[in-house]
Amino acid sequence: MTQKVAVVTGSSSGIGFETSLVLARNNFHTYATMRNPEKGAKMRTIQSGENLPIEIIQLDVTSDKSVSHAIQSILSRSGRIDVLVNNAGYGLVGAFEELGMDEIKEQYETNFFGVIRVTQAVIPIMKEQKSGLIVNISSGAGRFGYPGGSAYVSTKFALEGLSESMAYELDRFDIKVALVEPGFVRTNFSSVIAKKSQDPDSEYSKMTEKMAERMEVMRQNASSPELVANVVLEAVTSRNPNLRYLAGKDVEQWIEQKKKMSDKEFFNMIKHSLS
Ligand SMILES: NC(=O)c1ccc[n+]([C@@H]2O[C@H](COP(=O)([O-])OP(=O)(O)OC[C@H]3O[C@@H](n4cnc5c(N)ncnc54)[C@H](OP(=O)(O)O)[C@@H]3O)[C@@H](O)[C@H]2O)c1
Repeated sequence: MTQKVAVVTGSSSGIGFETSLVLARNNFHTYATMRNPEKGAKMRTIQSGENLPIEIIQLDVTSDKSVSHAIQSILSRSGRIDVLVNNAGYGLVGAFEELGMDEIKEQYETNFFGVIRVTQAVIPIMKEQKSGLIVNISSGAGRFGYPGGSAYVSTKFALEGLSESMAYELDRFDIKVALVEPGFVRTNFSSVIAKKSQDPDSEYSKMTEKMAERMEVMRQNASSPELVANVVLEAVTSRNPNLRYLAGKDVEQWIEQKKKMSDKEFFNMIKHSLS
């Protein structure tokens, strides 16, 4: 049987790093892509120690040229792509009123347009094969909003809508789409605080402070990136993957509460605990 080929974006750390390792350990020929391959030293050490089928390739999801170059180079080396994991992302934090248009655009360029750029480059390859799975790393933040999260949350909501619509279109070519929605995960997930929100005189500074405190508490019970990687593996090895996979006890509880509550009740719960 031909060895399956997986491509993971944002593999230099966190969920992408662990996902690349888990896929390779499960015999996927894995292209661990990263915008700066110099960050691949730890992965190279593990790869050679365990003799894993991993190749590190440069891919910056915000660059048309980099994406096209990476995907063409993977195609010429392996001749196929069975699994694409769109994982690269970061979080812009700040009250909506204070966000600069440039900051919002940058956030979308990575978290949303980045996914579009890579996925549009990969779909023709999967169509040709008449098979494939696209896994988009969303978040609990793809299912509900919270204060200070408007930019990040809206990229993940957009990703959810994109994935759900794409799933109908691609089904006829036997290409499946799955969303993995982690809760808090113990990674060095980079949170960029909007420039205006760093001003201590901001009208929202108390809200931002309280939010940061609450987030810190929640992070203490966060899931490991290995847990999320194993949820990705579950989707990837399923004969008929689900559209959505929750990853973590915290996000399971929030979604359960959201199902039971009215929008107003859920709003009040978040308002009282976070703002
Ligand atoms: N941690 C959480 O609590 C959590 C919860 C829910 C969802 N998520 C989602 O999980 C995904 C991974 O986050 P993480 O927690 O693993 O954080 P992380 O350790 O900071 O990993 C993010 C990865 O994305 C990469 N990246 C950022 N911009 C990129 C670009 N333009 N091109 C290519 N790669 C780029 C980073 O590369 P560099 O090393 O070069 O910066 C890094 O490898 C994100 O989509 C995030 O929204 C995280």
